Amino acid sequence: MSLPFHISIVFLIFLIFRLILTVHSDNTTLHVQPGSSSFKIVLFADLHFGEDTWTDWGPRQDVNSIKVMSTVLDQEHPDFVVYLGDIVTANNIPIKNASLYWDQAISPTRDRGIPWSSVFGNHDDMYFEWPMEWFSSTGIPPLHCRVNVSRPPESEGVCSFKGTTRSELMMNELEMNKLSYSKFGPKDLWPSISNYVLKLSSANNPESVIAYMYFLDSGGGSYPEVISSAQAEWFNRTSQEINPNSRVPEIIFWHIPSQAYKEVAPRSDAHGNCIGSLFMEEVAAQEAEMGMMQLLEGRSSVKAVFVGHNHGLDWCCPYKKLWLCYARHSGYGGYGNWPRGARILEITQQPFSLKSWIRMQDGHVHSEVLLNS
Ligand SMILES: *[C@@H]1O[C@H](CO)[C@@H](O)[C@H](O)[C@H]1NC(C)=O
Ligand SMILES: *[C@@H]1O[C@H](CO)[C@@H](O)[C@H](O)[C@H]1NC(C)=O
Ligand SMILES: *[C@@H]1O[C@H](CO)[C@@H](O)[C@H](O)[C@H]1NC(C)=O
Ligand SMILES: *[C@@H]1O[C@H](CO)[C@@H](O)[C@H](O)[C@H]1NC(C)=O
Ligand SMILES: [Zn+2]
Repeated sequence: MSLPFHISIVFLIFLIFRLILTVHSDNTTLHVQPGSSSFKIVLFADLHFGEDTWTDWGPRQDVNSIKVMSTVLDQEHPDFVVYLGDIVTANNIPIKNASLYWDQAISPTRDRGIPWSSVFGNHDDMYFEWPMEWFSSTGIPPLHCRVNVSRPPESEGVCSFKGTTRSELMMNELEMNKLSYSKFGPKDLWPSISNYVLKLSSANNPESVIAYMYFLDSGGGSYPEVISSAQAEWFNRTSQEINPNSRVPEIIFWHIPSQAYKEVAPRSDAHGNCIGSLFMEEVAAQEAEMGMMQLLEGRSSVKAVFVGHNHGLDWCCPYKKLWLCYARHSGYGGYGNWPRGARILEITQQPFSLKSWIRMQDGHVHSEVLLNS
């Protein structure tokens, strides 16, 4: 009679242990859903919320961007969303707190209960740039700042619009959002923020790692557009520590393409081994290469790099043993009128595969490619 009792006690202890594990599960690990063998990620790039905030046109663009995101999320039902930089156009935002716009850009994902993470682009922490048109006939429109008429505005700082720093944007995202997997990253990599790694594990065994996803800040805005040698060293150290034999595949995300993108970009109408639908402009690369690409090339586990920044490019091209990919311009803010969409990634375990395609705002899908290399 005592045996079943013992078994149920053991089972109960197991359950309690499971519960404790779940509650305390760390915020750097993502899991494939139980019963599923794949994990789907949507990349939203270059949303540019807060564009021309003082016009009727600007806020309309943000409504349109919300529609793009809602359509893609409802058609793809992803497990995770990556916000790939230029979430806001801070140089167009004449209020002190750009997080108010950042928060709108995050809202379609949060409203659906989908976890996400973000990296910075070059527009996110920019200073406000006073538009030329305000100094001609239209004049300066009513601003959303409280100017104390008995003091000059600059003494108050309320109307100075010095941008919202990367740290403030990140702090506001994390404080308000349990679903965010974004991270500040190591302090010694400042002024770059958002350098971190997330682990993707199988549904029931956290020890079985399917992929590591690295997020880096490629600069721009308040400092040069570059991935520093300190960031490269951080990647070198971290990847050797957590994945010493390159057994687990690695996927990389940042905003501004590295100079290697210029080497693989198709130069004619023949697109070679590149797969995509937009080949409309020159690669606008980082200002310098400080060792990051050499490290990625040297690791057989690195499968692909994903960037935004060039709104007129959406290709993936093979480069050495990996793939260099663009996302797809998702926002109505930012230059270019090419139809909006989002790049999708599907990671499958056993055997590992990384499939990608582009989902357009009208539902149409194209440019499917297998990035296993
Ligand atoms: C994530 O985990 C770290 C370390 O356990 C903790 O300091 C941090 O507050 C957590 N962040 C969130 C958003 O839960
Ligand atoms: C800025 O906006 C965010 C998002 O609404 C909010 O959480 C935060 O408290 C605001 N910060 C300041 C200094 O007003
Ligand atoms: C405006 O500035 C004056 C002078 O510095 C100060 O006495 C007053 O309290 C301020 N008013 C507000 C609403 O901040
Ligand atoms: C990466 O790490 C290896 C060994 O730990 C070291 O030899 C190499 O110089 C490092 N490379 C960079 C760019 O930091
Ligand atoms: Zn952009």
